[in-house]
Amino acid sequence: MARDDGTSPPYFNIDPEAALAELGPPTTSEGFARIAEACTRGRDDLASRGLNEEGKKSLRLFSTWEITRYLIPVAQAHFRRVLKQNPDLPQGLSETEGGAKWFTLDEVLKLRAHFATEGSKAKEYRPYRPEGLPAKLVAVANFKGGVGKTSTAAHLAMSAALDGYKVLVIDLDSQGSMTSIFNGRVADEWGTVFPLIARHYATHLRRENQSRLDRGEAPLPLDDTLNEALKLTARDVIQPTHWPNIDLIGAQLNLYWAEFQIPVWRMQARGWKLWDALTDRLAEDGILDAYDIVFLDTPPALGYLTINGLAAADILLVPLGASFLEFDSTGRFFDMLHSTFASIEEGENMAARALGREELAFEWDAVRAVITRYDGAQQAELAALMQAYLGRTLSPHRQDFTALIGQAGEQVAGIYEADYRDFNRETYVRGRETFDATYAAFKRLLIGIWRRDAHRAAGGLL
Ligand SMILES: Nc1ncnc2c1ncn2[C@@H]1O[C@H](COP(=O)(O)OP(=O)(O)O)[C@@H](O)[C@H]1O
Ligand SMILES: [Mg+2]
Repeated sequence: MARDDGTSPPYFNIDPEAALAELGPPTTSEGFARIAEACTRGRDDLASRGLNEEGKKSLRLFSTWEITRYLIPVAQAHFRRVLKQNPDLPQGLSETEGGAKWFTLDEVLKLRAHFATEGSKAKEYRPYRPEGLPAKLVAVANFKGGVGKTSTAAHLAMSAALDGYKVLVIDLDSQGSMTSIFNGRVADEWGTVFPLIARHYATHLRRENQSRLDRGEAPLPLDDTLNEALKLTARDVIQPTHWPNIDLIGAQLNLYWAEFQIPVWRMQARGWKLWDALTDRLAEDGILDAYDIVFLDTPPALGYLTINGLAAADILLVPLGASFLEFDSTGRFFDMLHSTFASIEEGENMAARALGREELAFEWDAVRAVITRYDGAQQAELAALMQAYLGRTLSPHRQDFTALIGQAGEQVAGIYEADYRDFNRETYVRGRETFDATYAAFKRLLIGIWRRDAHRAAGGLL
């Protein structure tokens, strides 16, 4: 503060006594607890502001304009006519006599179902999903933090839900940002994917023990955790969200415990295929039939949870900004993916070859890097260079930086939860366009992949 005149830079002439006076005592480990408590109180205060009387987060309403512009491909006049002819359909609420009609997302879904059955067969009222094929798992990962993993995964989940897909979101990041976005309640690790992984291990151990007994060896003990996990299914950890067609498996700080527990289990039973844990559990518990798309948000690290999520994924999206540092570290992330999965394959296949068994080979339907927070005025050159080197691996759409994300308010997670009346309509349309285009690029992948699967299932040659 102590500057002699107004012109010298702020770091000159700091008075040591004045600096001391505002310093405060040193921090102890207890000090962290007090800071954490203050943050929790502040967070709860913020979180409570957007909640309704029952302490639940509620999703905004959707206007006739938005529905006919973005959600159901019909003209406004026709939409109104169909509602009038069908008094049993949701009629919407208006704030003023004769004013615009507003609908809940649940009502929008009912209306879409009506148009899908009664409306023109030429129009896409329901998004494509081939019958009889399982849900697609999509992991959003990069070991760098702040690149837009959670925002991208959350927006994709919401756009897919608005588009009519049934979505499950799985938070693998113990920081729980995705869980906060969907207002999930997770008391401890038992409300996360942890029991699913534990159950997979416990099941393996039981099978292993059977062969041990057959060989006359002593079985390995199953501890309380494993016995408890054997009682739980994916449905026990799935919670509904304020989106009628998005459910959540949340995360919480204790999930980090899995990073220590998984290697211990793996040491105890070398034959446990931990990379199959999530897929197997979700498949066996019927989740891949009950949902269309499962989004996995991952922590900024290549730990066991991320490996599990990546191995489970059919589609891998790797968000990164168009900056030198993010391009550089993303290159190293792909390098780590290669060495991690190649070394798992090698470890498995030595044994498989010796026993004449089928070899393990990981495969992803599609892997795409996605440019996020793009600033066309500053980053066009770098983005073009990235495009030149990455080719088809880089998704063609660059997701623009938009103020709508940060600005939308404490309880509103991004563009799809924001009420367009809070913004200049043009700003809104432009911000929404870039996320709609991010979703469109993703949906093209998804549909292409499902089609390839459908051809294969039908015995085609593709
Ligand atoms: N397209 C975007 N425009 C503006 N800000 C964005 C955009 N995407 C992400 N952000 C912001 O960037 C920050 C990091 O994003 P986040 O999704 O949390 O990254 P990660 O999950 O990789 O750590 C957040 O503050 C988020 O609001
Ligand atoms: Mg994140």
